[in-house]
Amino acid sequence: MTYSTDDLKRFLDIATEAASAGGAVLQHYWGNLSNIQTKGRPGDLVTEADKAAEKEVLSVLRLHLPNHAILAEESGSIGIQTDDLLWAVDPLDGTTNYTHQYAFCGCSVGLLIEGKPAVGAIFDPVHNAMFRAAKGLGATCNREPICVSDAASLADSLLVTGFAYDRHETIDNNYAEFCHLTHLTQGVRRGGAASMDLAYVACGRLDGYWERGLSPWDVAAGVILVEEAGGKVTAYDQSPFEIASGRILATNGRIHTELSTTLGQIKPFTRFAPK
Ligand code: IPD
Ligand code: CA
Ligand code: CA
Repeated sequence: MTYSTDDLKRFLDIATEAASAGGAVLQHYWGNLSNIQTKGRPGDLVTEADKAAEKEVLSVLRLHLPNHAILAEESGSIGIQTDDLLWAVDPLDGTTNYTHQYAFCGCSVGLLIEGKPAVGAIFDPVHNAMFRAAKGLGATCNREPICVSDAASLADSLLVTGFAYDRHETIDNNYAEFCHLTHLTQGVRRGGAASMDLAYVACGRLDGYWERGLSPWDVAAGVILVEEAGGKVTAYDQSPFEIASGRILATNGRIHTELSTTLGQIKPFTRFAPK
């Protein structure tokens, strides 16, 4: 099915309302957490803020779109997917940062159409910044248009990446890539919130981002932000981005081939210390 510009505008407004409602909860609990638990792997945390924010996001989506299917980090699959639309919700992306009051996190609400990111709203509750984008409608931060940077080489770039929670269990842990690219660039940050990493690429504060081990809710909203801000999103080898792969390469477009080629040349460390 094809969706009109008016449909996309409506979905974007609903995503914005939902991210804003979730973000208000995150502002309420900031610095006031009493319940921090580990979900499974070491470092994978969940708090009362994650759960309460998700409740608010879901109630907004259900109010406006009662028949749409949702995939939410804390609640799993909700509703039966009867059409080509799926909402992907991360109520608090960057939970570890949030529990330490390290000011880099977001409430991320994305819409996939036929599995492809098409609409996204990410609210940064610490800086009151709402990032929004929808296919063909551009990308904004607090309603001002944003665009990717113009860095043209790795040597001129500031990158960001992340290390998935299974990093203790796999040699595909991204450590070699991180070290290698730290030598070739102006620096590689580890943001700790995938949605915000993508939002920062979209507004040109960072030039490129790569990561593996991601879930659809981490990136659904951020991918369309980068694309609509003039950037490029693919698999590491520049084949089309597949959200189910958990792997992403997102850049300003100009450094895409150089970063992809470099990632393809790096061999994982063969020795690592399991926890
Ligand atoms: C995590 C963050 C982090 C990324 C992890 C994600 P969470 O999400 O986005 O940057 O490296 O893979 O799981 O657990 O804070 O929602
Ligand atoms: Ca996340
Ligand atoms: Ca989360």
